[in-house]
Amino acid sequence: MDRISDRIRKAAEIIAKAKHAVVFTGAGISAESGIPTFRGKGGLWEKYDPEEVASISGFMRNPRAFWEFSKDLLVKVKAEPNDAHKAIAELEEMGIVKAVITQNVDMLHQRAGSKKVLELHGSMSYVDCLKCGAIYVWEDIEKIIDNPACKNCGSELLKPRVVFFGEPLPSGILSEAMEESRKCDVFIAIGTSLVVYPAAHLPFMAKDHGAKLILINAEPTDKDYLFDVVIHDKAAPTMKKILEKVKELRG
Ligand code: APR
Ligand code: ZN
Repeated sequence: MDRISDRIRKAAEIIAKAKHAVVFTGAGISAESGIPTFRGKGGLWEKYDPEEVASISGFMRNPRAFWEFSKDLLVKVKAEPNDAHKAIAELEEMGIVKAVITQNVDMLHQRAGSKKVLELHGSMSYVDCLKCGAIYVWEDIEKIIDNPACKNCGSELLKPRVVFFGEPLPSGILSEAMEESRKCDVFIAIGTSLVVYPAAHLPFMAKDHGAKLILINAEPTDKDYLFDVVIHDKAAPTMKKILEKVKELRG
């Protein structure tokens, strides 16, 4: 079994030659920024019932359960982009990465400087009052997170523009993500268990169109077999090393 450093070199060689690389990320890329993942060791789904806190029916029944959960997800930690987010933004600057497709709602890719970010599951950046239509930015809601109620009409149905279980994905974003997965020549999946569809279809689409696939994930997934290079390690140090190697190879 070749060493991690051999795999990092192999991944860097593939990425250095890429004409149209696409990065596909999940909760694991933000773990080193302090945001808990959903599955794997200590994941949020061990503590919360997704049906209650992350489904549209659960939200309509009891929005407070979602806001309690979102404290763990986004408020408790003042999350900052980590070296993995930054490396991806730099690879985009270098003209290698053409798009980031993320399942995360934490907006860390944009804050790291990535320009083309397709948020498959939306983001917390805007929150709508379902009763009167008032629109809030996340920062306003963060301040009233213990007792979120609409300033305009008092309703507690303040819904962030994230995709809850039971809701369709934003169709334009999904079709653009599928388009990117079809046309890329390198597909790099980072920090995702690859179990939630339709997002988990994307690596299959990239493979079907002849792309080279790279996976960086702390734990094995049931889709490891799809990938040309699999690195079971943390995203931040691994992406930092890959970026350094790519810069060396590109001279
Ligand atoms: N570096 C790399 N990978 C990591 C790290 C790390 N530091 N820490 C954890 N991981 C891995 C875990 O081993 C796990 O396989 O990240 C993966 C995260 O998987 P999930 O928690 O399932 O997150 P994700 O794949 O994004 O989930 C998809 O499911 O709950 C829904 O809507 C939610 O967008 C989410 C979707
Ligand atoms: Zn309102």
